[in-house]
Amino acid sequence: MSDSTSPRFTDRTAVVTGAASGIGAAIARRLVAEGASVLALDIAADALTGLADELGDRCAPVVADVTDEAAVAAAVTAGVERFGGLDLAFNVAGASRYGAVTELAAEDWDFTVDLVQKAVFLCVKHQARQMVAQGRGGAIVNVASLNAHIPMVGGSPYSTGKAGVEMFSKNAALELAPAGIRVNAVLPGLIDTPLVAPVLGYEPAKDLFLARIPLHRAGSPDEVAGPCLYLASDDAAYITGTSLVIDGGWEISNYADLSRLGSS
Ligand SMILES: NC(=O)c1ccc[n+]([C@@H]2O[C@H](COP(=O)([O-])OP(=O)(O)OC[C@H]3O[C@@H](n4cnc5c(N)ncnc54)[C@H](O)[C@@H]3O)[C@@H](O)[C@H]2O)c1
Repeated sequence: MSDSTSPRFTDRTAVVTGAASGIGAAIARRLVAEGASVLALDIAADALTGLADELGDRCAPVVADVTDEAAVAAAVTAGVERFGGLDLAFNVAGASRYGAVTELAAEDWDFTVDLVQKAVFLCVKHQARQMVAQGRGGAIVNVASLNAHIPMVGGSPYSTGKAGVEMFSKNAALELAPAGIRVNAVLPGLIDTPLVAPVLGYEPAKDLFLARIPLHRAGSPDEVAGPCLYLASDDAAYITGTSLVIDGGWEISNYADLSRLGSS
């Protein structure tokens, strides 16, 4: 039985992609606060340096592009050399290019799907190889999106890619279970990060979103980090191949609310 008063991730080593901003930074901060050592990976070198300065010795920054397989593999190796192993992985890096189905350039489709979907495969491939070689299991959390379930106008590569992340996570969970490696996905709704600043900074757009969210606000990066750490923790030891929607109730709100008509 674990001691519920000790930090959950003492002596564990984690990699967090997209760690320089938003959800990834919140995950990295909480992991370090709860005892883990963190390999923080991102392409944004300056922001990554700022995070590493803030978090100290148990955070090792690595500037790498998650769409570059050799860079991903090298980053995993660097993390293992620095901290002695890899127990947990959080694949968070993401961005999107938008366009109507009839207009979208093939290169914009490739950019987005390579980043949000293929890169998750590349990361899990090299993270899981290391975990299998160590022989002590592990836990991987992939950040998909509510857009895996809900399409958005102009966002076909993003929604399609994120739907792929959800299924890929289940497939990887199936294949990696014999090695004691759990793989789960989270599907955030509207979270207040730089990624959605254009929406939250423009009142008419913000109002359209909030009208669909029963809790009537955007979530914070920390409100995604908490469930991610839960899925990586020993409390979730029997959970693999699932996906957790973190959306303030958005997904359940798509039915006409007849109570608005009043009782007459
Ligand atoms: N914010 C939301 O509302 C929301 C909702 C659903 C899902 N998500 C997903 O959550 C994840 C994190 O997004 P966020 O909101 O924190 O955004 P963010 O822009 O704050 O952070 C994303 C990070 O990913 C990094 N990144 C981008 N391309 C990269 C690459 N090729 N290699 C390495 N790093 C790269 C960026 O530099 C940035 O630091 C993304 O996968 C995003 O799709 C966000």
